Amino acid sequence: MPEIPRQTIEEIRDRTDLIELVGRFVTLKSKGGSWVGLCPFHQEKSPSFNVVPSKGIFHCFGCGEGGDAFKFLMKHKGLSFVEAVKELAGPAGIELEERKLTHAERAAIAKKGGVRETCKIASEWFHMQLLTSPAAKDAREYLLNRGLESDTWARFRLGFAPDSWTSLLDHLAGKGVDTELAIRAGLVKRNERRGSHYDVFRGRVIIPILDERDRPIAFGGRILAGDGPKYINSPETPLYTKSDTLYNLSFARGSIQRNKRVLLVEGYFDVISLALAGYPETVATCGTALTPGHMKVLRRLTDRAYALFDADEAGQRASDKSLPLFLDAGMEALRISVPDAKDPDEYIRSQGAEHFEELMKRARPLFVEFLERCMRRNGLSAGGRQRSMNEAIPLLQRLQGTSKDLAIVQAAGILGVPEVTLRRAARGNSSTPTASPGGHHGARWVGNVELNHLLWLLLNFADDVAPVLEEVEETALVTERDDVMWVIGQLLEGTKLPEILAQLEDNDVVRVLQASAAKEGLYTQEQALRVARQILIKLRIRDTETQLLSLRRELSACEGDPDGTKYRVLLKRQAGLQRKLINLRRKSKASLT
Ligand code: UTP
Ligand code: MN
Repeated sequence: MPEIPRQTIEEIRDRTDLIELVGRFVTLKSKGGSWVGLCPFHQEKSPSFNVVPSKGIFHCFGCGEGGDAFKFLMKHKGLSFVEAVKELAGPAGIELEERKLTHAERAAIAKKGGVRETCKIASEWFHMQLLTSPAAKDAREYLLNRGLESDTWARFRLGFAPDSWTSLLDHLAGKGVDTELAIRAGLVKRNERRGSHYDVFRGRVIIPILDERDRPIAFGGRILAGDGPKYINSPETPLYTKSDTLYNLSFARGSIQRNKRVLLVEGYFDVISLALAGYPETVATCGTALTPGHMKVLRRLTDRAYALFDADEAGQRASDKSLPLFLDAGMEALRISVPDAKDPDEYIRSQGAEHFEELMKRARPLFVEFLERCMRRNGLSAGGRQRSMNEAIPLLQRLQGTSKDLAIVQAAGILGVPEVTLRRAARGNSSTPTASPGGHHGARWVGNVELNHLLWLLLNFADDVAPVLEEVEETALVTERDDVMWVIGQLLEGTKLPEILAQLEDNDVVRVLQASAAKEGLYTQEQALRVARQILIKLRIRDTETQLLSLRRELSACEGDPDGTKYRVLLKRQAGLQRKLINLRRKSKASLT
C-alpha cells in the first residue's frame, strides 16, 4: 500500500468521534468540556483518565499516557500506526488508496463485503431488538438475572432474535439484502421441501462474534428456556472460520499484550463474566476444540496462557489434547481448576471475583499435571517410571531451547529420573542413525551422539583415549548411567568386549555396544585422542548446564524468602558454575582448532 498522505490522516483524525471510540472500551462520564473514566492503561480506583474531544486527545494524569485517536487504538489494541489509520478510515468515511486489485480479488472482496455488510445490519438489528422490542422482555430479564446490565449489553453488543420465522429475513430484505446473501452470511436457511426460507436464529439471546477489527462476522444464539440445543451457532462463511477465530479477541488483544497472558475459557458467558470481573484478557473458542490456528493467533500476542477446562473426564481429555498444541506454539500453558464442577461464570457469580484470583494463583502447568497423571496411572515401580518417561518423551521432543531445558528439569523432578537421561532421550530424534553407532533402533536412550562415539573410541582405541579419561575429575561424571560407567571402566581396563557383554543384562547398552563394534572407521587412530577430548568437554558442558538450570530453579523458588542466606549461597554456586561453563566453552573452542 502506498504511503498514506498526511492530509488523509488528518482528515481521518478530525472525523473520528473520539468519545465514541474510547467509550467502546472505557466508561466515560462528562465533566465540563472533557470526559473522564478509569484509565485502561494502568490500574486505578479513581478516574484520572481524560478525553478532550475538542482537542482530539486523551490523557491520563495517573500514568501519563496520552495522544490522539490513532495512539489510543495502537496502545489499546496493539496495532501499528498504519493499522490504526486503516481501522479508523472506514468509520470516518474515507477510502484509503489501495493497489489495483485483480478481477478475482475484487470479486472475492465483493463477496466478503456483502457478507460483512449483512452481518453488520443483522447485528445492529439484533441489538435494537434486545434494547427496545417488547418481545425481548424475557431476554432482558434473563440477562439481568445473570448479572449482566445494559452497559454490558452495549459493550458486547448483545442482541435478541425474536421467536419468528422470517423477522430477520424481512428486515434484511428491507435493507436490500437478497436472500442468497443472507444465506451466505449464515443467517438464513432454505427449506428444500417447501422451497421457502427461514431465520437461523429464533427466540435466542444473540452473542455476536467480532473479527480483529470489531466487525461482526458470526453469531452465537443462546436459548432462553425450554427445549432445543443450548446454543445455535453461525456456520462457517467466507468471513468466518472457527478454527482460527476466538471470541472477544478484538477487545482482549491490548490487555493480552499488556498483561502478558491470555485466559482461555470455553463459553461466551465465561468470557463476559471474566471481563467484567477484571480479566479483559479472556477469550474463548467458538464451540470448537483449540487448534493450531488459534495458537498462531495468540502466540503473536503472548507466550503464556491460563486455560480453564472442565473438571470432568472430557475436560481432562481436552486439556491433554491441547498440551502438544501449546508446546508446538512455544507457549507456556497453565491450568486453572475451578472447584465443584462450576464454570468460571458460575464460580464468579457465587464466590465473587476476588476468589477467582486465588484460583489464578493456584494455576498449575499443564505439562506438570500431565506428568503427574502419568505417574499415578503407571505407578512408581521402575517399569512404571519407564512407561511414564516414554509418554513424556514425545512431548519433550516437541520443545526447543530453554523451554525444553526447563521442561526436562521439571520432568526429571516429577518422574524421579536423572535429567541427563531425559535429555538424551528427548534428543533421540536428532541423532542420525548413520552418524551414530548407537543410533540403531532399540538403542535410542544412548542416542546421545557424544557418548556413543566415546564408546566406539574405547572399543577401538582404548589405549589411545585412556589418558584423556583419566584426566577427568571425578565430579565431572561422564554419564549418570551406572552400567555405562561400568562399561567405560571395563573398556579402559582392557576387558574384551565378549566378556563385558556376558556380564550385562540384555538391554540398550548391549545393543549400543554391539552396534559400535560393528561399525568401522568412524575415526582414525590419529584422530582418536583429540576427538575423545572434545567429547568429554561436551559432556561436561552439558552436565554443567544441567546443574545451572536446576540451580536457577532453586533460586527462583527462594526469591522473596525473608532469610536471604540460602539465596546468597545459591548465587555463589551459580557464579562458580558459570565460570566453569565459560572455561569449558573456551576449551571446547580451542580443542577444535
Ligand atoms: P457450555 O455448555 O459450558 O455453555 O458451553 P456456557 O457458555 O457456559 O453457557 P451458559 O453459561 O450455560 O449460558 C460452552 C461453549 O460451547 C459451545 C458454545 O460456544 C458455548 O459457549 N456450545 C455449547 C455450543 O456451541 N452448542 C451447545 O449446544 C452448547
Ligand atoms: Mn456457563
